[in-house]
Amino acid sequence: MTKKIGVKKIGVIGAGQMGAGIAQVCAFSDFKTILWDANDKSLSNGVSSINAQLDKLVKKEKITEEKKVDTLNNLTSASNLKDFSDCDIVIEAIIENFEIKSKLFKELDEVTQNSTILATNTSSISITKIAGATKRPEKVVGVHFMNPVPIMKLVEIIKGLQTNENTYQTVESFCKKINKTTVLGIDMPGFIVNRILCPMINEAIFLLQEGVKAEDIDSAMKLGTNQPMGPLELADFVGLDTLLYILQILHRELGEDKYRPCPLLVKYIEAGWYGKKSGKGFYQY
Ligand code: CAA
Ligand code: NAD
Repeated sequence: MTKKIGVKKIGVIGAGQMGAGIAQVCAFSDFKTILWDANDKSLSNGVSSINAQLDKLVKKEKITEEKKVDTLNNLTSASNLKDFSDCDIVIEAIIENFEIKSKLFKELDEVTQNSTILATNTSSISITKIAGATKRPEKVVGVHFMNPVPIMKLVEIIKGLQTNENTYQTVESFCKKINKTTVLGIDMPGFIVNRILCPMINEAIFLLQEGVKAEDIDSAMKLGTNQPMGPLELADFVGLDTLLYILQILHRELGEDKYRPCPLLVKYIEAGWYGKKSGKGFYQY
């Protein structure tokens, strides 16, 4: 049975592919949801993508027009961080960079009520370290959604060293309310999913570097292991910048060569090829 929780309003920061998806599922599940991005264009793109996703669902007769309107009525765009002052949970989904996330958590610690839970959608950064930027480490927690958020069932919950039981229980109940299944990861780089997935993708990039064709690598893994996307297609979908950040953290913090980012991936980032979001990655979009 879902635990009763006093959560009514959710704040989402970062309106990129993850933040927009998280805001969509929260608003869809009847939570008042407020979305903000430091970049105005990203914020308006995020809101447009939510509109487009809901339109698609109406067209496919998966939801009614009324449900779409209700969802959009639950969603507002913030003009600055002060608008998050009355949120029960704030979910951060900004760039995968510790210094930038840490600065944001410091600011959130100041503008939100003491009772607000501050959650991060980080793919790999230590929750304990992010919590250290605040005066409420017991209310900081990892809620790691999967991409695309509206479709993927899983959320990994990660407790930092100081996350308390009430925070964990509250986010676990909240995840059930937005129709997600949770697993409890550990606060080690990559948690569960990325600890396993990212080395596999990295290995695929090594194969590409050694001369195997991208299409052959992806076909082999799709047809040979029943994965819905090949590893290079998935890398483009996740974002090559995010993938490189994750691998660098796995390599640095777990200290093993098996996590060394493939040099070809580094070159792609140097060239500005970030995958689907930039129009070019291992494939052209
Ligand atoms: N946003 C929302 N919905 C989407 C979507 C998106 N970006 N892309 C596809 N969908 C929806 C489609 O509308 C469709 O919905 P219906 O079934 O209701 O019609 C459904 O997903 C299936 O889509 P398609 O038929 O177009 O294509 P598909 O069958 O190839 O599925 C996919 C697309 C669901 C993305 C599938 O390819 C897939 O599961 N890929 C692997 C995704 C994955 O592994 N995600 C985890 C990445 S790792 C991560 O997220 C963690 C991290 O920290 C990096
Ligand atoms: P993205 O590049 O699509 O979006 C990031 C957004 O954050 C951008 O719109 C950017 O303008 C905004 N931003 C950057 N700095 C900001 C700041 N200081 N304040 C407010 N907004 C800021 O990235 P994404 O793929 O949505 O990833 C976001 C987070 O989710 C990362 O931590 C990533 O590791 C994690 N994540 C990504 C995936 C994935 O598949 N891409 C899956 C799970 C988790």
